[in-house]
Amino acid sequence: MKKFFIQTYGCQMNVADSEMVSGLLIKSGYELTESIDEADIIIFNSCTVRQHAEDRVIGRITQEGSRKKKKPDLLIGLIGCVAQRCGEELIQKIDCLDFAVGTDQYRYLPQIIENCLKNKCSTVKILQNNIENYSNTQPLRKRGCSAFVTIMRGCNNFCSYCIVPYVRGRERSRNHLEILKEIETAGNKGYEDITLLGQNVNSYKDNNIDFPTLLKLASKIDSIKRLRFITSHPKDLSDKLIDVMAKEEKVCEHLHLPLQSGSNTILEKMNRGYSVEQYLSIIKKLKNSIPNIAITTDVMVGFPGETEKDFLDTYNLMKKIRFDYAFTFKYSPRKGTKAADPRVNRGQIDESVRLERLQKLIALQEKITFEKYKEQTGKVVDVYVEQKSKKNINELSGRTRDNKIIVFSGEEKLIGKFVKVKIYDATGWTLKGKIQNN
Ligand code: 5AD
Ligand code: SF4
Repeated sequence: MKKFFIQTYGCQMNVADSEMVSGLLIKSGYELTESIDEADIIIFNSCTVRQHAEDRVIGRITQEGSRKKKKPDLLIGLIGCVAQRCGEELIQKIDCLDFAVGTDQYRYLPQIIENCLKNKCSTVKILQNNIENYSNTQPLRKRGCSAFVTIMRGCNNFCSYCIVPYVRGRERSRNHLEILKEIETAGNKGYEDITLLGQNVNSYKDNNIDFPTLLKLASKIDSIKRLRFITSHPKDLSDKLIDVMAKEEKVCEHLHLPLQSGSNTILEKMNRGYSVEQYLSIIKKLKNSIPNIAITTDVMVGFPGETEKDFLDTYNLMKKIRFDYAFTFKYSPRKGTKAADPRVNRGQIDESVRLERLQKLIALQEKITFEKYKEQTGKVVDVYVEQKSKKNINELSGRTRDNKIIVFSGEEKLIGKFVKVKIYDATGWTLKGKIQNN
């Protein structure tokens, strides 16, 4: 039996896609291996959201290509957003690359691999198919005991910096009954903490079922205990959703709400469809309805035309909102997007300025995160035990309802169980706690 190894780069959507692809390959008779040395087929699932991510995976393919000297029959393949964006070009350029398969063509992977093995020829399959939503596929889940369930694919928003709508195509929602079934099955298999995934979950629509309704239906499923979702676009976040979050016990007190910028001028240039004031009003509503909610975000610095004043607006807004955590990025021009077109948008910001702004933002957020985590000291929280701690094998690591990682001493048999833990300290982005006896 031929063995495949799959490595994922990028967002949770890619993690979920790798699980789906693994399921497809196993069904076709391939065996998954966790060891790259054992693999007959190496697959990289790639991210192109920033240039750095793309460079990393391309570097890795070239590096792993040297394995072919010892193992001439080894196949190396690229899937995901880089394959979609420039698979054709990469197959020509990189000798050791055997196949490149885009985001809508994964169903053909078993066939493509078989063909490459038999005929020793390279293959590119990157045709976009805006109705493919991979219904009736069974993902192979490997992560701890929480599961991702994809509810929609693609994006229609065309934020001016973003490559995603080009490489993942138009927005399409999966059938809600199929999603509910998948959640129930995952719960029965012991995955009791479910994260619903989509580029913009708030615009989910399956006939008359919108996202808040789907969330409400999902929260009635007995086999699961917790529900989360990413990512929410502020422009589509409705009062109805806040209401479901507040009322449904299983929906966790955490929301990831990308801000991107704290300047209205930049938000408009980004085509985000909301203002700082609107964003603040959502935060206010959320905190009123769910007082202990944790809010995390994505923020970008150095978007073309961003002045020092625009940057300070972002900096000060982050100081004011005090997110629990923020993923911070330096703008990276993506060919084909509006913001990267020199005819439309002048004023690219120097790399050194981008870096300086990023460092300032990171320093600010690190301080806020640390303070917010420290504030938790003394609280007793519900924790879903996920795995052994990576740093200390005598400790376990779990997740709080508000999506914070917590480590504590405990026996391995607690993995997959819910326990009460008292927080006594915080280091960086990790809480430290002690299990409470019932
Ligand atoms: N440059 C830098 N960051 C980007 N993101 C998306 N596109 C780019 C880009 N061209 C960031 C956004 C998004 C996150 C997933 O990645 O902040 O929310
Ligand atoms: Fe990209 Fe904007 Fe779509 Fe998010 S909502 S994937 S940032 S285009």
